Amino acid sequence: MVYSKVFEPIQLGPITLRNRTIRAAAFEGMCKHWNITHDLINYHRKVAEGGIGMTTVAYASVSKDGLAFTHQLWIREEIKSDLKKLTDAIHAGGAKASIQIGHTGNMSKKSVTGFRPISASAKFNLYGPTWPRKMTRNDIQRVVNDFKHAALILNECGFDAVEIHAGHGYLISQFLSPYTNRRNDEYGGSFENRSRFLREVLTAVREAVGNQMAILVKMNMWDGFEGGITQKEAYKTAQIIESLGADAIVLSGGFVSKAPMYIMRGRMPTRIMAKNISNIVVKFLVGVMGQKLIKPYPFQEGYFIEEAKKFRDLVKIPLIYVGGMNSIETIEKAFQNGADCVAFARALIQNPSFVNDLRNEIIKKSGCTICNYCVAVMYTGKMRCFMNEANLSPSLREQLAHPER
Ligand SMILES: Cc1cc2nc3c(=O)[nH]c(=O)nc-3n(C[C@H](O)[C@H](O)[C@H](O)COP(=O)(O)O)c2cc1C
Repeated sequence: MVYSKVFEPIQLGPITLRNRTIRAAAFEGMCKHWNITHDLINYHRKVAEGGIGMTTVAYASVSKDGLAFTHQLWIREEIKSDLKKLTDAIHAGGAKASIQIGHTGNMSKKSVTGFRPISASAKFNLYGPTWPRKMTRNDIQRVVNDFKHAALILNECGFDAVEIHAGHGYLISQFLSPYTNRRNDEYGGSFENRSRFLREVLTAVREAVGNQMAILVKMNMWDGFEGGITQKEAYKTAQIIESLGADAIVLSGGFVSKAPMYIMRGRMPTRIMAKNISNIVVKFLVGVMGQKLIKPYPFQEGYFIEEAKKFRDLVKIPLIYVGGMNSIETIEKAFQNGADCVAFARALIQNPSFVNDLRNEIIKKSGCTICNYCVAVMYTGKMRCFMNEANLSPSLREQLAHPER
């Protein structure tokens, strides 16, 4: 058995994880009509049994108008008993249960929700494609309450932690970023104003759960392009998050409607993605201009470590590093550079027992090839690794096994 700090327990606010590994929020695409399925429960059970300290159920919307897909989770009273089944399964596997809550803002879809998308400002979003409505103060207050109500439900259903999604260009991030926030009221303009929505959400969620649950916030260190949040603003964001009583910060970056691959790096297999898109215009655009629209970024293990370590001296609360933590060597490097926990998405999609396999020295490194097939297919179906697909042609399989060629 390999020794590493990563296998030591850690306290995040009121909860203790058996080790310092977290399954990052990665959209499972396993819900049906916004309801929990056996597939979702079984997937998280497997990850828990695979040795993870805490698993995060991804991309759950706090309200109907915050949804982008019908196979996404919507937190509401009617699904409480299934939420409880989900947390029971995770706990039976020995892990803590976390859930990412958010609102997709300008990425939500009227065809899914029945509502025109809302955002900080009414700015066209090519990646929807959507033309959202600028949120009124009443909308803002209502969504803050939706976050609070969702947190109350999750607390009742046995979740140990809740992760507020404040990054990647979703609604909170759309308020933080000057690229999507053109408001000139108290929610726009200065950083103080642009961060007000985040502050209100975080305060409301803390009010809802008291100290019964850990609160994590996933935030951007950089949106991935000039014109988004600056580095200084990201530093201030982390400090605000700490000052409002969050228990940990997940440090990420990128913006779904402008620099999506900055989040994950590598190249999006756009031909596969196009096949899975139903909107004919988007299908055509992705098929023809895919690599231009979804610009690739070179992948390297631990690609956010250099940025993340700059946050170490700014806050005292635990920092969770994510992004290519795909080998024991890189995980060690993250800890040497200020991480308190590490989170994995693709390594666990490829192998839900990644953590146990590392600990038991069965592997030293993830088998994930960073082909991003799992990303391309999640928009219309279940998140899955190409290695588990039965019906791929040998040439496509070869391509996905060596995406760099
Ligand atoms: C299939 C897939 C789905 C994702 N969905 C989400 C999501 O719902 N919420 C989120 O914050 N990040 C999401 N991400 C980003 C991951 O949480 C993580 O930040 C990123 O993939 C880098 O980690 P990795 O290198 O371990 O994959 C997703 C990533 C993948 C691969």
